[in-house]
Amino acid sequence: MNAANVNRFSKWTYVFLLFTALCCLFTPAVSVKKENFKTCSQSGFCKRNRDYADSAATTSSWSSPYALDPASIKFDKGQLTGNVIKTLATTGQSVRLPITISFLESGTARVTLDEEKRQTGDIELRHGSKARKERYNEAEKWAIVGGTQLSAGAAISKGSETGTTKVIYGPMSKFEAIISHSPLSIDFKRDGVTQVLLNERGLLNMEHWRPKVDKPAKEIKEGEEASEPVEDPAAEDESTWWDESFGGNTDSKPKGPESVALDVTFPGYEHVYGVAEHTGPLSLRQTRGGDGNFDEPYRLYNADVFEYEMNSPMTLYGSIPFMQAHKKDSTVGVFWLNAAETWIDIVKSKSAANPLSLGIGSETDTKTHWFSESGLLDVFVFLGPTPKDVVGAFTGLTGYTQLPQHFAIAHHQCRWNYVTDEDVKDVDRKFDKFNIPYDVIWLDIEYTDGKKYFTWDPMTFPKPIEMQEQLDEHERKLVAIIDPHIKNEANYPIVDELKSKDFATHNKDGNIYEGWCWPGSSHWVDCFSPAARAWWASLFQYKKFLGSAHNLWLWNDMNEPSVFNGPETTMPKDNLHHGGWEHRDVHNLNGLTLVNATFDGLVARNKEEEKAGGVRPFVLTRSFYAGSQRMGAMWTGDNQAEWSHLKESLPMILSLGVTGFPFAGADVGGFFGNPEKELLTRWYQAGAFYPFFRAHAHIDTRRREPYLLPEVERGIITQALRLRYALLPTWYTAFHAASTSGEPVVKPMYYVHPGDEKGFSIDDQMYLGSSGLLVKPVTQEGATSVDIYLPDGEKYFDYSDYTQHKGPGHVEVEAPLEKVPLLMRGGHIFPRRDRPRRSSGLMKYDPFTLVIVLGNAGDAEGDVYLDDGESYDYEQGAYIHRHFKYDAETVSLTSTDLSMAGKKTKAYLDEMKSVRVEKIIIVNAPASWKHKSEVRVAEEGASKSSEAKDVPLKWFAGESGKADWAVVRNPGVTIGGGWKIDFSLDSKA
Ligand code: NOJ
Repeated sequence: MNAANVNRFSKWTYVFLLFTALCCLFTPAVSVKKENFKTCSQSGFCKRNRDYADSAATTSSWSSPYALDPASIKFDKGQLTGNVIKTLATTGQSVRLPITISFLESGTARVTLDEEKRQTGDIELRHGSKARKERYNEAEKWAIVGGTQLSAGAAISKGSETGTTKVIYGPMSKFEAIISHSPLSIDFKRDGVTQVLLNERGLLNMEHWRPKVDKPAKEIKEGEEASEPVEDPAAEDESTWWDESFGGNTDSKPKGPESVALDVTFPGYEHVYGVAEHTGPLSLRQTRGGDGNFDEPYRLYNADVFEYEMNSPMTLYGSIPFMQAHKKDSTVGVFWLNAAETWIDIVKSKSAANPLSLGIGSETDTKTHWFSESGLLDVFVFLGPTPKDVVGAFTGLTGYTQLPQHFAIAHHQCRWNYVTDEDVKDVDRKFDKFNIPYDVIWLDIEYTDGKKYFTWDPMTFPKPIEMQEQLDEHERKLVAIIDPHIKNEANYPIVDELKSKDFATHNKDGNIYEGWCWPGSSHWVDCFSPAARAWWASLFQYKKFLGSAHNLWLWNDMNEPSVFNGPETTMPKDNLHHGGWEHRDVHNLNGLTLVNATFDGLVARNKEEEKAGGVRPFVLTRSFYAGSQRMGAMWTGDNQAEWSHLKESLPMILSLGVTGFPFAGADVGGFFGNPEKELLTRWYQAGAFYPFFRAHAHIDTRRREPYLLPEVERGIITQALRLRYALLPTWYTAFHAASTSGEPVVKPMYYVHPGDEKGFSIDDQMYLGSSGLLVKPVTQEGATSVDIYLPDGEKYFDYSDYTQHKGPGHVEVEAPLEKVPLLMRGGHIFPRRDRPRRSSGLMKYDPFTLVIVLGNAGDAEGDVYLDDGESYDYEQGAYIHRHFKYDAETVSLTSTDLSMAGKKTKAYLDEMKSVRVEKIIIVNAPASWKHKSEVRVAEEGASKSSEAKDVPLKWFAGESGKADWAVVRNPGVTIGGGWKIDFSLDSKA
């Protein structure tokens, strides 16, 4: 929230707020204060780079002034180095820009451009600034964790044409990078076809260092009138080179203009996805005006955008500068590794005739233009060919999401605020009284003593440990908020330490920076400093965060950082961080560094616990960058209790999933405002399919815990929650896949069916992992049915009554209020746990149900992954990972092992040996089973058929469009064991 310090409110402010709150009851929508955030034309470098693009487009003789000096080129062990020369149009002088093009073992190429003068410190800073002189070159330290091994096989091709250097690389040498020297451009090909072009439009721009030249003021003689200055049309726009003002703040820009820009063209690609976080459709819009297009570029500058609007390219809380381009059966991508303010323009145009793409793919080119205020030009190019390959390569670099603790993927209950420890205990009891499952209750900022983090308000939370103990009785957890602003107040040991140890961010003069946030006057911990990070991490020790118990986890909010009185509600760009880097250079990484330190703190805290090896941390963050996915979950910030916000939460979450951040959710119910009961009910049904599933509400809203709703809605919400809990094994299996391959947990149509063009723009329905479950939450008021798009000719069955649908095409699915439109795709098997419990922790030893959905071919397959749900023991083999396959030919279902044995395998399997499969449901069971009454079950290792046992099967006819189905109860097999069930026994009838 972007308001002044609450503690300082006068009586009149309260009266005013009360009045405003009352007004809010009658005002349906609130909207963002756009004037608080820059448009492109108000951001100096954005305007300059857009102008540059315009002159390139309108100047017939335009030629990019950047050329690679052929004499400088060297190639060694998968890496090309050389010098790019920028020739200045005005003076003909040249600027030297060292370039490195790395070809990685993974098949990814990386182009890095620096500036020699800044690199060697041969520049002068203005205003006596103590900032570093280099372009920021440490983003990779934060974002990249692997996959940078250079390719031994990459080689310069002898057949390069004059004026070009051709490098062959990638899997089976199928990729080529053709580097044209003058002007510099790079053409990336796969199988001989161009996929990605860099600097094709000549928009490469690296604003080089130059000293400020003060123009002499024209002398005015006595009696003469001052004339208007005459503009030199060829002169560059210097108006924001040396300082820049916005909203009453002036940024001193001691290093002058230093932006970097590049155009990236995807020839033949009509759809681009990614560059989270924004509202609007998953398939990104054009940004340079025209019907249905935005006229502003997508912006990435992490900010506390209060009351953000729908369908907008405005920046939000987090940034992932990774984009995928997609056409039929082909996906490619780029990752722009830069942590400064960044904007991306997108235009699409009819493709220049490309005979090689005739008949396949789109006839549209997507042309993108990326610009960042400072830092290196550092871009990674991925050549696919599938969405899985591209997302896999990107997350191979930036890391996979941590396998979350099991409770973290269950249902969370939050509000600003539960006001006392008794209140928390009461809410906890009420959930039980109404039999509504939940795992985690959350505390917002009011639990602290005067907004001093790591303390408890002694009046309202006198017994935090008792409170956590009550939660623990049902395996429940508490999440408490800890923000990065530290109250600047006497007798607060944390701020004293922050100051005395010099761990805070500094202002441009090198003094500790002071600004305003929830506590009033505050300082900000500088987690770019290793020592500050270690200190921050140490604060989570139980002996330091008194009152915290082993079931307390963390929420890092306001970490963009949000500064109420700062420019664009954040820190001044000329603030200084550890190592002398300006805030401008690192802004988008700020949130990541804090979460990193919190995560480390929890790992260390947990090591103190009895459980050897510790337990996995849980941290929720609002601000993020590429790589933050390694540390936990994110949510989409302060949404509103509006249908439009419910609707747009789906493309937002899908977009995060395909940009490597699968553990994402939106505030269920909407943060601002009071949702009416239909909206709240539908939101819970949708939330049950968010990877991160938390209800949350603003301090001014009415209480809306599900048990407070009338019986009908309460019952429906409870059913949605039970559905989530029943499917937790499927969710956990999907999270396991995400944590080992980077793939999304909920997947958009294009990702699962990359060849089906009709699905490329669809972003309101999604698949859950690889389970074949396809959900389309209702996001429209009053709807009683939804239109679901089926991409293929496979059979799909309604989850609740097995009504059969067949694609390809659109089908109408009934969706009265009590129903979440959910289909099961033929050909899949997914696991469930059907016993209703109060929390997921209590389900640990519950039996499983396997649902086998037979499709056109009569076969089905699927997986289950499970472990203790909390520790790292799975790294030593303490897990179960089974593959289930129903084979139509042998008419049998088998469970085979996908695990790798380790030191702890046996102990875990022993612990789980009584966890059985209690039910097998076969949807679309063959009609020939009508008189079948038994199946034969053989456990692994059973050599003689006499050791097999026969178990009853019951077959049911589906009526009026519903599929036939069958059930085997108590087959007598365990979830962790190997077995085979033979369905081919002759009918006894
Ligand atoms: C802003 C967060 O977005 C919101 O979820 C939280 O309730 C408030 N800060 C108060 O901490």
